[in-house]
Amino acid sequence: MKPRSKHLVVAITGASGSGFGVAVVRRLAANLEVETVTLLFSATGRRCLAEECGLTDKDLAALSPKIKLQNEKDLGAAISSGSHRQDGMVLVPCSAGALGRIAAGVSDTLVSRAADVCLKERRPVVLCLRETPLNRIHLENLLRVHDAGAVVMPLMPGFYHGPKTIEDLFDAFATRVLDQLGLPEPDARRWKG
Ligand SMILES: Cc1cc2nc3c(=O)[nH]c(=O)nc-3n(C[C@H](O)[C@H](O)[C@H](O)COP(=O)(O)O)c2cc1C
Repeated sequence: MKPRSKHLVVAITGASGSGFGVAVVRRLAANLEVETVTLLFSATGRRCLAEECGLTDKDLAALSPKIKLQNEKDLGAAISSGSHRQDGMVLVPCSAGALGRIAAGVSDTLVSRAADVCLKERRPVVLCLRETPLNRIHLENLLRVHDAGAVVMPLMPGFYHGPKTIEDLFDAFATRVLDQLGLPEPDARRWKG
């Protein structure tokens, strides 16, 4: 039976590592099981994308017709309601600020509201924190979101697959994110022992 098409949300927030976000968006858009990728930025997320990747939000949205750029100021957007059909959310990179808002249940931005909705509806939330070192507040917040159902997947790429370029690192990490969303990629390089 053909699996039903999936609708995912990707939030790029104001932390370093927006190249990981680009890789996740690319791979989701290329995945045959994915119908739409709702792409959401925080203001600082947009700035990090420009500074680190030389890209705008519109450049990223132009990669595929599946990608729908969402105005983050619209708190009444479809993704802010549990009644809207969607299948999970990735925050990549996720800032310590976004983590804190989600951990505290403060839904005052569309990013934190959309994550809150996914958690309450028991949909997958993959939270790719980028901060170092971590203080006690970060650590406690990570435990809170973990206990609320999120997958905590800090931006810690593996090196055992022999990456030659930074894109290799981004891609390998993105593959692991898709695994968490139940979207394993048939051509992914996997450790065979
Ligand atoms: C260029 C730049 C890089 C930043 N990198 C990080 C980072 O790696 N991790 C982090 O938690 N915050 C980082 N910050 C700070 C956050 O962007 C800031 O706390 C912001 O309020 C987070 O809110 P947001 O999640 O809505 O983007 C950075 C800010 C700038 C301008």
